[in-house]
Amino acid sequence: MRKPIIAGNWKMNKTPEEAAQLVRDLIPLVKDAKCDVVVCTPAVNFAAVKPVIEGTNIKLGAQNVHFKASGAYTGELSADMLKAAGCEYVIIGHSERRQYFGETDKTVNLRTIAAVKAGLKAIVCVGEMKDEREAGYTDMIVMYQTQMALHGLTAEELDNVVIAYEPVWAIGTGLTATDEQANETIGVIRKAIAYKFGQEAADKIRIQYGGSMKGSNVKGLMAQPEIDGGLIGGASLKAEDFAQVVNF
Ligand code: 13P
Repeated sequence: MRKPIIAGNWKMNKTPEEAAQLVRDLIPLVKDAKCDVVVCTPAVNFAAVKPVIEGTNIKLGAQNVHFKASGAYTGELSADMLKAAGCEYVIIGHSERRQYFGETDKTVNLRTIAAVKAGLKAIVCVGEMKDEREAGYTDMIVMYQTQMALHGLTAEELDNVVIAYEPVWAIGTGLTATDEQANETIGVIRKAIAYKFGQEAADKIRIQYGGSMKGSNVKGLMAQPEIDGGLIGGASLKAEDFAQVVNF
């Protein structure tokens, strides 16, 4: 009953020209996809990508959003700006932002609220570090991050939220959580949502897996009952690779 969603997170890759070419190549390869297809490009590429994907099944996403509507926040972009530039989705709280740019559970929460209130769909990232998994804290970490990120939203507003479970040790490392590990932890995240918002909201919300997901492992992951899609880094940077994931 949950429609799968596969999103590419291009991170800090591609110039506008390269971005337009990538989506041009992608369009025919994913046109029959049964899932929602999103490309989260660097903001400088929105203007180049938007007209190319107009009228196709590919949606545009951003990689971050500020929580204030406007003001003295050098280098930041507001939710209204992203919407005006054609974005439907925005990634929030990616582990790279948490690790390198001081993102906290509090700022993830503020950004999520700002995005949803402005009418964007938020892809909210949670996930444990390697040492946290080894110490047995995975469930606690993802439950805490999930509940903190969604604090202050209503169950109805969760219709515009997607959660991405990205174990930090699996990002860009070639290491993937096993199908069972990913399924189990995503089940824990769903329980955390049920505690806070009720079972119906938990059953409805889409939860992606992310971390070295690619053509060769997508089938096994997507066969798991809790996994509703993927957030794809490296394998989203080439049209053929991303199409293989989308057409799982
Ligand atoms: P990789 O697919 O390159 O491991 O990156 C995953 C990710 O961080 C997506 O947001």
